[in-house]
This record gives sequence, C-alpha cells and structure tokens, in this order.
Amino acid sequence: MTKTIGIGVLVSGNGSNLQSLIDHIEAGRLDAEIRIVVSNDPNAYALERCRKHKIISAVVDHHDYSSREDFDRQMIEIIVAAGVELVVMAGFMRILSSLFFKAFPMKIMNIHPALLPAFPGTHVQQKAIDYGVRFSGCTVHFAEEGIDSGPIIIQSVVPVYEEDTAETLAVRILREEHRIYPQAIQYYAEDRIEIIGRKVRIRSCASIPDKAVHNPPLSRF
Ligand code: GRF
Repeated sequence: MTKTIGIGVLVSGNGSNLQSLIDHIEAGRLDAEIRIVVSNDPNAYALERCRKHKIISAVVDHHDYSSREDFDRQMIEIIVAAGVELVVMAGFMRILSSLFFKAFPMKIMNIHPALLPAFPGTHVQQKAIDYGVRFSGCTVHFAEEGIDSGPIIIQSVVPVYEEDTAETLAVRILREEHRIYPQAIQYYAEDRIEIIGRKVRIRSCASIPDKAVHNPPLSRF
C-alpha cells in the first residue's frame, strides 16, 4: 500500500541529496512530504534550499549543547513535534547517541558514499582511491548505533579510474546517491521493506511500478 510518508531530513552541508528528494517529490516520483529539515550547522547551504522550496527547517547547533545526549534530546523533540514517520540522514555529519536510535528504531535511513561495510566514516572517496579498489559506490541503509552500520537497503556501484581524484569520484558517486535514496524511501512508502535480522528484503509488488527514476547507465561503465 502506498501512502505519503512524512519525512524529516537531517543535514549538515550542501544538501544535494535533500535537493534530489525535493525534486523527486515535486515531480510526483516520491510519495513523501518533507515535514522538517534539521541542520546542526546554521550556515548549511541545505537551509537555503529549504527557503527556496518553502520547507520548514530548524537549526540545532551542536555548539550550544554540553553533551551529545542534550543535543539528541532537542533533535528528538523537534522531529517528533513535526510528525515525522521516517528520519532521513542526508549528509548529516554528527554522531548520534543511543538515545536517538532508541527513539526511532529502524525508522532512520542513512546514505553513505561507499560500498559498506567497506570504508565507513569520513573522507571515504580518498580512502577508496588510496586502497586501490576498482569499484566503489554508495549505500542506503537503516541506521543503527555505530558508525555507518545497519541493514543495507540499496547499493549502487561505480567504477574507480586511475585518474580519479576524491572530487571526481565523489561526483560519480553522488549521481548514484541522488538516484537510490529516493528509490529506497519510495520502497518504504510503498511498505515493501521487510527487515529480517540484518538483511532487508524488498517485496515485489506487481501493481506498483517503481516510481523513482533510474539514471541511464554510466557511459564508461
Ligand atoms: C554525501 O556524499 C553523503 O553520502 C555523505 O555526505 C555527502 C553529503 O552530500 N554522507 P550532500 O550534502 O547531500 O550534497
């Protein structure tokens, strides 16, 4: 059954993934409504995107809180008050405490610019290049306590070329992020996601065509 799912998006920076969600929603390809965007950085460009699209946003500046738990409590209060059904971390660069994960069990998604469980953490495009992997990509997963961990929903693979820099690889990966994040949220809205232990099964649903748009194949892949 498809319903419009109320999402809360957590951001810290540019917000290109947020923009992709906005674009998919506005084009009718994602059955979601952004109830609130929360940034821990008052200068995040993602907040400007909210202003442009008249989306409610809030800033919870982590510098204003003496403990991780106090910061998380404020985040939880805002997200619950906004009526959020699914928390979507999109380039959110703060580590959340167990308090936060307990408040939204298996209701938090994250996107990571590597093929987890390889290269969790930060600067992962550079780490992938330095390691010499031939392929990297991105992962949408349910977020559990622990850095970039939790059941994997969708992954997409991109090639890593000899001449790649962290920047060129990041661009190639971001293009896939913008495709698979709306797709994963659409699966959630269609109630097609089943979590079995640490595995995710996407139930097929013949009556519902995949709404999220598929990018054309990469030209050099
Ligand atoms: C993305 O690569 C995301 O996977 C990572 O941080 C980056 C954020 O990009 N967690 P943006 O803010 O969505 O443009």
